[in-house]
Amino acid sequence: MRNVILDCDPGHDDAISIIIGASKRSELNILGITTVAGNVEVDKNTRNALQVCEMLNLDVPVVEGAVRPLVRESEVAPEIHGDTGLDGPVLSPPEKKKSPGHAVDFIIGEVRKSDEKVTLVPTGPLTNIALALIKDPSIKDNIDEIVLMGGGTFGNWTPAAEFNIYVDAEAAKVVYESGVPVTMFGLDVTHQVIADEAVISRVAEIDNDIAGFVKELLIFFAETYKNHFGFPGGPIHDACTTMYLLDPEMFTFEDVNVTIETKGEATYGMTVVDLLKTTGKAENVKFATGVDEETFWKIFLDVLASYGEA
Ligand code: BDR
Ligand code: CA
Repeated sequence: MRNVILDCDPGHDDAISIIIGASKRSELNILGITTVAGNVEVDKNTRNALQVCEMLNLDVPVVEGAVRPLVRESEVAPEIHGDTGLDGPVLSPPEKKKSPGHAVDFIIGEVRKSDEKVTLVPTGPLTNIALALIKDPSIKDNIDEIVLMGGGTFGNWTPAAEFNIYVDAEAAKVVYESGVPVTMFGLDVTHQVIADEAVISRVAEIDNDIAGFVKELLIFFAETYKNHFGFPGGPIHDACTTMYLLDPEMFTFEDVNVTIETKGEATYGMTVVDLLKTTGKAENVKFATGVDEETFWKIFLDVLASYGEA
């Protein structure tokens, strides 16, 4: 079983990513869930993570992290995820409590004490991961891969920048330049997995509580993506990370150099992806270029159905 830490800002697609990652099929050993300021304020993201754990009966620590990015002020995305960060499903306040301590120390502690290398799975801004790497660079030796959702060759928060990278580009720069292998699911691939009405109706046919919860998440997410971007549904961006951990074969990749832009006025937060190797810079990222959509949705639906099995 692979040891993972899910670092997130749930967030509809973060919640779905946790649901995939926590399934028996994924065979992941989730050491904990850490939260970061992103889609909404960090305390709301923490509450949402606790709610998702409760839905799943997932008994892992949930540890709150950075309240704001390294350098800039926070930006949030209620127009995509609603004021709670997880609008749509009706959820009662969680009974599960967050664990004491800070996400950065939790990440450092878990990575240091793990016998096997740990995979970090960030699906929000990279603030916690950057701070952990800065506070204790020795953890790099015991991280096998950072599997993240962020960036792409185009943007969704600005024309150049994707939300997670834009919110804390200085943190992204630390992570991308850390020397730890980065596997990157950017918008190029996440926009290939849009949960449109056809997907939602297949989810609705699955008769268990978790699938019902996912259906509610997808309905809300589809609505905001229709209103905001004119898309036929919501791309379940973050779920690409745990789907990859479950079955890497469905994705295609290019090894490339990616530079994080932190200075440009119009391009702040851009992930400059050197697909044609024009810079001669060393490759630092396994960049997801495509996905076998049929396989993706088949496995996705199978995983949701598996929650109804004894
Ligand atoms: C990313 O931004 C957030 O709104 C989503 O949860 C995802 O992590 C997509 O740009
Ligand atoms: Ca997210």
